[in-house]
Amino acid sequence: MKLNILSFNNPIWFMRQAGRHLPEYKEIRSKKESFIDFCFDYESIVKSTLQPIARYDLDCAIIFSDILVVPYILGQRIDFIKGKGPKLEDLEINKLLCLKTEKKRLEDLENCYKAIREVRKKLNKNKCLIGFCGAPWTVACYMIDGGNKNRFKKSKASVKTSKTQLKALLEKISDISTTHLINQYKSGCDTLMIFESWAGILDSEDYNDILYEPVEQIIKNLKSKNVDAPIIVFPKGIGRNIVEYLNHISADVLSIDYETNLKWVINNIKKDIVLQGNINPNLLLEGGSRLTAEVKKLKETVKGRKHIYNLGHGMLPDTPISNVQKTIRTLRT
Ligand code: CP3
Repeated sequence: MKLNILSFNNPIWFMRQAGRHLPEYKEIRSKKESFIDFCFDYESIVKSTLQPIARYDLDCAIIFSDILVVPYILGQRIDFIKGKGPKLEDLEINKLLCLKTEKKRLEDLENCYKAIREVRKKLNKNKCLIGFCGAPWTVACYMIDGGNKNRFKKSKASVKTSKTQLKALLEKISDISTTHLINQYKSGCDTLMIFESWAGILDSEDYNDILYEPVEQIIKNLKSKNVDAPIIVFPKGIGRNIVEYLNHISADVLSIDYETNLKWVINNIKKDIVLQGNINPNLLLEGGSRLTAEVKKLKETVKGRKHIYNLGHGMLPDTPISNVQKTIRTLRT
């Protein structure tokens, strides 16, 4: 059988393991002015993907990219403002629906696939390589609101006032994301993750149309194309609705955010779903005896069930390297 994240008993990796907490990342990042240029630069992708593996000997690498490559290849203008985050061109939903993938920008994405092939060659064959995309709703939030100001007010309003157009936009994002995941798989990713970072801002009555259908569409399409990679989903912020979520989504792994009680999850999510998470990234930032105690508690809690050690959201930029090392040591002993 081909190696993937399910081949391990208790693999360790961290969401946002590559990036700003690493001095070696800051060093190569400083050579490019714009994050987009960095994100599509072959050498930068290869190096930043491998940096956390070289430093920490983690079990999984995640390809260095971003969920916002989808609006980028659709030609929506996008900038990453230092200290603020992404800022996308302000476009009405009808205009977003008219966007078409741009040939030049699809060529930029080829650098990402080429980098995956190179990373796979350089990465120890006993380590897995994760490809990813954003879930359609989360990507749509950035496209509609232009960034995370006002907690995605326009996107939330569109669920009530322009549902038909929103659903068409989600379908469009699903299609592009499916192709992107297939290409990542074919280039050498053995595990795929779908980030639904903004699931928590929706009313549960809208989950069916806005969360479940677009994500399940992606998974069905992957399966129909014989993509033989486990799928990790991360529906952040929906609390106990994760049970219902998994009744609609055919994922293999559920990534749990840091606000959800792990014991409750273990008792309520069927055993054939592998769990991942849910160390609080703030604890990893703070360190000290509380971090050690919580990590030990997590180890104890997951005993008897396959668990992927990870955070409950992305690593924070100021996280000390020594805290990461200590966490890994505690998890492995
Ligand atoms: O190490 C890894 O996890 C791989 C690379 C990765 C990045 N972004 C690199 C990045 C991954 C998996 C992502 C996912 C992503 N991007 C998500 C989903 C996960 C989550 O955090 O909820 C989202 C919502 C985005 C959108 C995005 N990209 C934002 C909001 C920002 C700015 C603020 C921030 O969180 O950093 C980015 C920029 C970004 N993406 C950086 C990195 C390393 C920082 C860019 C820099 O170097 O200044």
